[in-house]
Amino acid sequence: MNRVIIFDTTLRDGEQAAGASLNAQEKLEIAKQLDRLGVDVIEAGFPISSPGDFEAVQLISREVRRPIICALSHANAVAVDRAWQAIKEAAHPRIHVFLSASDIHLLYQLNKSREEILEMAQKMAARAKSYVDDVEFSPMDASRTEPVYLYHILEATIDAGATTVNIPDTVGYATPQEFGNLIQGILVNVPNIHKAVISIHCHNDLGLAVANSLEAIRNGARQVECTINGIGERAGNASLEEIVMALKTRQDSFNLTTNVDTTQIYKTSRLVSELTGFAIQANKAIVGANAFRHQSGIHQDGLIKKAITYEIMNPKSVGIPASSLVLSKLSGKHAFKERLIELGYTLSEEALSRAFQSFKGLADKKKEITDRDIESLVAEELRAATEVYHLDHVEVSCGDHSLPTATVRLIGPGGQSLADAALGTGPVDAIYKAINRIVGIPNKLTEFTIKSITEGIDAIGEVLIRIESEGITYTGRGASTDIIVASAKAYMNALNRLLAKKETEKGKP
Ligand code: KIV
Ligand code: ZN
Repeated sequence: MNRVIIFDTTLRDGEQAAGASLNAQEKLEIAKQLDRLGVDVIEAGFPISSPGDFEAVQLISREVRRPIICALSHANAVAVDRAWQAIKEAAHPRIHVFLSASDIHLLYQLNKSREEILEMAQKMAARAKSYVDDVEFSPMDASRTEPVYLYHILEATIDAGATTVNIPDTVGYATPQEFGNLIQGILVNVPNIHKAVISIHCHNDLGLAVANSLEAIRNGARQVECTINGIGERAGNASLEEIVMALKTRQDSFNLTTNVDTTQIYKTSRLVSELTGFAIQANKAIVGANAFRHQSGIHQDGLIKKAITYEIMNPKSVGIPASSLVLSKLSGKHAFKERLIELGYTLSEEALSRAFQSFKGLADKKKEITDRDIESLVAEELRAATEVYHLDHVEVSCGDHSLPTATVRLIGPGGQSLADAALGTGPVDAIYKAINRIVGIPNKLTEFTIKSITEGIDAIGEVLIRIESEGITYTGRGASTDIIVASAKAYMNALNRLLAKKETEKGKP
């Protein structure tokens, strides 16, 4: 097979990144865009982990019909059954069972023998198979597992019905040569390996996730698990866009293809960044703001003469728009909707109308509306759709000779209007204190950044904050031409995520 299956785990491992919690609607938006991107498999979530995750996997299974929709499961009967319940309406469902395999995990975490683990793995792969043909099994921490034992687990789970066996470098410990050799060893030593696809799943703790994945592919792996922008647990997962573009750009070396429509990469990257609240570093390969910017005079000279002198990929091939200037106050709803579709958003009629109203409001303040403005505006709309408390009004008084004072009014869960006021060390502190007096959830602000989305004095300001409550980090974003309002919105967004999480965690197993 000379095609590599792209398994996207942005909505599962990606969402495990500290502070990245997405609600079901946001996950659905991302899943729809992943569909347009052309990924083969979407790992939509981990249904046993929370009712919220279950709901999101079920929603995606119902609405996204082309790709395989995969649900992750512990190797126990309750989890496998729950995974099946979540994906059973998918057009192409898959259950992905995982279980630790390394002696380190067996000894220090699970307190089980290799024999017990082998039996559990086989039983649960068989249980998944009783529900669905498409079963994936992952021996967690495979790269630190004794290879002969690893071969046995793979053989046993393939016998039990696994059609994909995934080799995770769970802690990002492997080096490319080692990891490539591991795949070769599996091909040679697992007698029934021809009945399954070998997959790989690399974490980026040493910055080697993409290199390890590519080396594994070179040695025979044909499914790669990756995430948009490389987000994920700790230092993240292998980045989808880097793997796909490496395979495409160096086709001469790999001789392999994917189903990905690479012109959708940029949009997908922006959407994931916008909805998770994780900014993309400027020098990030493929999608960073500087990825196709040439600063040096010699480079610019070469580029003008012939792009190939300093550009190995055409920015158009990853969907970077030539110009991001799109709409103005004269633009109608139809043009606005078309632009949203272009950017990867599919809003309901009601949400579209609200977003259009905000667009008109912005166009009154700002002459040129760029894609970044629109993205920020729609992300605001998606955030508002799932609010428990809505910021209705905020007013501050501050200056070098006055006591910063804030008055806020929120619309609460039952539609009631709740107002309060507070003093603070500065205007933002005063707002946050006033909001706290109403919402009353203890938390600590751990990060606060503010940046302008576009150039110019009339630009939208975007505030990104992180708060911590009971050891969990929540991200909040808010955007407005008024940075004080943006700060208030960001705090409300983080609090609403916290409240939603508490709500969906109720009844967590
Ligand atoms: O990193 C890992 O081992 C995982 C497994 C669940 C595949 O995410
Ligand atoms: Zn992982």
